[in-house]
Amino acid sequence: MPAWLKDTVFYEIYPQSFNDTNGDGIGDFQGIIEKLDYIKSLGASALWINPCFDSPFKDAGYDVRDYRKVAPRYGTNEDLYRLFDEAHKRGIRVLLDLVPGHTSEEHEWFRASGQELPEERGGYSDRFIWSDFWIRGMQGHPYIGGECPRNGVYMLNFFKCQPALNYGFLHPTENWQMPIDAPAAVATRDAMADVCLFWLSHGADGFRVDMANSLVKDDDENKSGTCEVWRYIFAKVRPQYPDCAFVSEWNGPEQSLNNAGFDMDFYLDWMGNGYNSLVRDYEAHPDGQTDDSYFRAAGNGDIRRFLDEYLPRYEATKGRGYISMLTCNHDTPRLAPRLSVRELKLYDAFLLTMPGVPFIYYGDEIGMRYIAGQKTVEGGYTRTGSRTPMQWDGTKNLGFSDADPEKLYIPVDSDKNAPTVEAQEKDPESLLSTVRALTALRRTHEDLQADGSFKVMIADKYQPFVYRRGSLTAAVNVKTEARTAKTALPAEQQVLYSIGDVSVEDGKIIMGPQSFAVIG
Ligand code: GLC
Ligand code: CA
Repeated sequence: MPAWLKDTVFYEIYPQSFNDTNGDGIGDFQGIIEKLDYIKSLGASALWINPCFDSPFKDAGYDVRDYRKVAPRYGTNEDLYRLFDEAHKRGIRVLLDLVPGHTSEEHEWFRASGQELPEERGGYSDRFIWSDFWIRGMQGHPYIGGECPRNGVYMLNFFKCQPALNYGFLHPTENWQMPIDAPAAVATRDAMADVCLFWLSHGADGFRVDMANSLVKDDDENKSGTCEVWRYIFAKVRPQYPDCAFVSEWNGPEQSLNNAGFDMDFYLDWMGNGYNSLVRDYEAHPDGQTDDSYFRAAGNGDIRRFLDEYLPRYEATKGRGYISMLTCNHDTPRLAPRLSVRELKLYDAFLLTMPGVPFIYYGDEIGMRYIAGQKTVEGGYTRTGSRTPMQWDGTKNLGFSDADPEKLYIPVDSDKNAPTVEAQEKDPESLLSTVRALTALRRTHEDLQADGSFKVMIADKYQPFVYRRGSLTAAVNVKTEARTAKTALPAEQQVLYSIGDVSVEDGKIIMGPQSFAVIG
């Protein structure tokens, strides 16, 4: 793992919605450049930018038409190189979003591969997964027929617009399937490694990898074929750029970190998993909503539901890579307004004092709300409500853009109390000020960073959750009543940082309602 990750906090930018500087209603690279000082002030020292490549945008850019060219709506390649430069001047690294599992149906590789005659296909006959007859299915895999002159159907990886690239099958059973070491499947790996090398050579610092576990088809439960593909790609890329970082959308750190060789793996919202129990354990019923999330004051309050899943994964991967927890991302509903500002503060305090490398989704630092019922944009569907424009200040379009409001990519939050950066900067008690204080705390104490040891001290339903990070102790009381943690801390230990009232008496941690502290 590159050493720079250990004290890094990431900031995810959905470029469409961050900052528009030319009044066309959509964010751009110049807009990101102008906000780098803000990002730095937040205590983030690395960015993940969602796909910003040439695309028909049927899935917000996850349908790439040209891996080596940025989408004109964001600027030019040179603008992106300038962004790398300006970020680096401020000590900020930049990860791009690599989409290795599929392209857009408009990618030239795909167009070539769909031609009727092999000699018309420019060497891309097997860049995608085609069956050998126009009306033959694909053994349960999603596929499309009838779109191209080629006598076959092709496999999809996600939406209809996203044909699956061919990395082969772990155990081919049909003659149109090839093994993962077939020359054409290896050529796909090489092409993806070349895409990485291209952007790294221009100043990118690494990649967030989309659907990283999806490459080899009919893979085994350990994803051993897909892991082998990643080891091959990393072996081509890492020797030339030893400091570059890769984070996977995989949600299986034992595989992605220990076997595939990723540096970080996202801990994602999978129904009923540990992360879900922290902040996303809710269900809508006809007569209201139940919410058992740990960080809801009214929730189930049992941190063990998280720890039972997290701890074995953490222990199994410690020292091999990092589990990345997030505030949210572009695919999931934001936590606000379901969680109150105080609940968000406690969750952020936890997130920023856990091992691994944390990610903050743009706007979460001010508690931007999930906008339910938002009309779908670019294949967003229910995700669109988490992709609304960043809320900078009280000016037109909340400072996002000078365009007419109806020309915006997605409308801004119309609530008259919509939070903004400007309003929260003035308020020392705001969520933004709290996030800044927490990132500063993490920066000051190596024990709180990615590699600091982690040990659970108290985890039950009736006491605050207490954990050790190196020589420090962190404690959180999510409930609205005061609670005492029956620890045995040395008498001289002091509260270094707190949210709410916390004191240490006779080695016990006395915690006010909805409070958090780091003690040392
Ligand atoms: C990932 C992305 C999501 C996209 C999908 C297909 O899950 O995060 O936004 O739609 O992959 O590329
Ligand atoms: Ca713009």
